[in-house]
Amino acid sequence: MKILAIETSCDDTGISILEIKGSKTPSFKVLSNIVSSQKIHKNYGGVFPMMAKREHQKNLVPVLKESLQKAKILKIKNAKIKNQNNNEKFKIIEKILEKENNLYGSLKQFLEKYEKPNVDLIAVTNGPGLEPCLWVGVNFAKALSYFWDIPIVPVNHIEAHILINFLENPKIEFPAISLVVSGGHTQLILVKKIGNYKILGETRDDAAGECFDKCAKILGLEYPGGPIISKIASKINYSLIRTNKRIAGKIHLPRPMMNTKDYDFSFSGLKTAVLYATRGKKLTEQYVKEMCFEVQQAIIDVLIKKTINAAKNHKAKTIILGGGVSANYELRKQLGEKINKDTPNTKYLIPDSALSTDNALMIAVTGYFHKNKKISWQKIKADANLRISK
Ligand code: KG4
Ligand code: ZN
Repeated sequence: MKILAIETSCDDTGISILEIKGSKTPSFKVLSNIVSSQKIHKNYGGVFPMMAKREHQKNLVPVLKESLQKAKILKIKNAKIKNQNNNEKFKIIEKILEKENNLYGSLKQFLEKYEKPNVDLIAVTNGPGLEPCLWVGVNFAKALSYFWDIPIVPVNHIEAHILINFLENPKIEFPAISLVVSGGHTQLILVKKIGNYKILGETRDDAAGECFDKCAKILGLEYPGGPIISKIASKINYSLIRTNKRIAGKIHLPRPMMNTKDYDFSFSGLKTAVLYATRGKKLTEQYVKEMCFEVQQAIIDVLIKKTINAAKNHKAKTIILGGGVSANYELRKQLGEKINKDTPNTKYLIPDSALSTDNALMIAVTGYFHKNKKISWQKIKADANLRISK
């Protein structure tokens, strides 16, 4: 079967086509995975939902076209079909997209020009995320589902950050502990099996990615903060620190909630500590470098401690890392080292770093596992606060 997946929950517009063969142990073939990351937020230090919604409206049709083309399933209609009168159908699509009117014109042109692709299911992120952004994707999926008569399956974005790990590992052993760290979420989740989750703990305020982003802003760096902080931090010589010869830098930030017995997190205090430490300081290259290093290490220390605790206490057979922050090189490396040392029998899974951040391929993989939950286009709704478990 083939799945067309759509992701618009934050500032990345993604469309992917995934082919799945076999049923008991599926084998996945990625036909395309196009992501258009919105550059407009770079200088604002964060994402403004209405601005992101507008960008999704601009991007969706070109990204759809590129994705179908790459998957070699984009076909121009022949003259006979082209001249079919679809006015009634377009009226309904115009109604579906009444709040996304910038999208209607370009989608109409696209649907007039190209044939229905050979796709069996549409998967779309319906939450959690930024409400206006989620609705663009959901309404776009509804329009395609109605026009092409293809069923839809709604996908939870957090679950997708976990299940993308199935792409390379068709057999994951449960129970698993999953740490999902993104711009909007930081959750430790007990995965009993696919579809059966329990949130063990989560952030009480800012998410880990949000902390990277806010600290970057304080340090005069652009959005998103995670990649740039990690790049600058890598200029500090880790081998010296590993041997406990502290580097010249004297900055020390708190590790909030690191030693509490629960699985919750709190990162807003860390951001405030960076703010106070930096106030009135000249942002020299050396200072920014040391601060980036310490922010990253403080976040990593807390994440690793709680993840290992959860894995030990729940006798996890697998530890799964996911979400945008899981692209962080040091987090990936240091968690792996800690698992080797403390829980060597636990398997450690991380997505390819290009698949850590938001993409539609993870939505396609998750849609596949929930293919029996497909619904008609009239029934799907976006839910900004959707939870993976009660
Ligand atoms: O999962 P994601 O792409 O979007 C949400 O669902 O929020 O995560 C985005 C977050 C941003 O906060 C970004 O700064 C962070 O992931 N991020 C990173 C890295 N790459 C992205 N954080 C640390 N290190 C990175 N290399
Ligand atoms: Zn995400």
